[in-house]
Amino acid sequence: MKKRKGIILAGGTATRLFPLTLSISKQIMPVYDKPMIYYPISVLMEANIREILIISTPRDIVGFKELLGDGSKWGMHFEYKIQEKPNGLAEAFIIGEDFIGEDNVAMILGDNMFYGNNLSEILKCANEREDEATIFGYYVKDPTAYGVVEIDDSKKAISIEEKPKNPKSNYAVPGLYFYTNDVIQIAKSIKPSQRGELEITSVNEEYMKRGKLKVEILGRQMVWFDTGTYDSLIETASFVQTIEKRQGIQICCPEEIAYRNGFITDGELLALSDKLIKTDYGKYLKDLAEHKIELF
Ligand code: TTP
Repeated sequence: MKKRKGIILAGGTATRLFPLTLSISKQIMPVYDKPMIYYPISVLMEANIREILIISTPRDIVGFKELLGDGSKWGMHFEYKIQEKPNGLAEAFIIGEDFIGEDNVAMILGDNMFYGNNLSEILKCANEREDEATIFGYYVKDPTAYGVVEIDDSKKAISIEEKPKNPKSNYAVPGLYFYTNDVIQIAKSIKPSQRGELEITSVNEEYMKRGKLKVEILGRQMVWFDTGTYDSLIETASFVQTIEKRQGIQICCPEEIAYRNGFITDGELLALSDKLIKTDYGKYLKDLAEHKIELF
């Protein structure tokens, strides 16, 4: 199977969170017990992607490097690149050209959180689709703030519109995209929109024109949040708190995924738990490493 690399786009200005984000990155802020970026990292790890490029602003990249390092502690490989200005999501593939090389790529936005029973199967499906792009559709009450996709019976996209006033469906497109290597050339060929950004919707439209845009529906059992406003930030945090307290299991915990996927050993997990041992998070990692959690 063709290799797939991952990109996390964690720049932007986060104006909707001012003054919280006047001096720090949104994606480093807490969502209950973890920095926000742990959530998208977990999704890529769940898809068995082990090489990730983190793109952020000149101001914030330092914080991510300090938090995540080269990724080896989680059996991962992280690289970093700067996006000078928020020129749009599609610019990630131009910035990431050397990193992507000849491989396929998945991109996730640094403020998106996914959680659900069949997430890993859905990711596997998207991952295995080597010659087509995959985006996702998530039913929301009000899709007008998102890219909105209309789908036919064979899961092919028939229309896709950015923030439409009169949406053709209720399916919003979350910030997770699986593309073929062609995305680099596509990103280079599209023109900035009226708001001056290289739009991801333009990339998706190009795949759609070529008949190569599949849509996976994220059903009722899935949760998707983007954490870009005061309310969504606290709603996501309180969702994570509710589930973690009730079940005593972690949501989007990179150390756990690394361990379950065989990226790190029991001993390495135990060593990681040490630093966090005053927290439930750390105790959970220790219990996992000592095989005290039986989860099917
Ligand atoms: P947005 O939420 O659209 O933008 P933002 O984070 O700057 O926030 P606001 O609307 O409050 O000003 O971005 C979605 C995600 O994509 C977020 O994680 C930031 C990231 N992003 C970039 O890294 N570069 C970009 O050029 C854009 C447009 C977004």
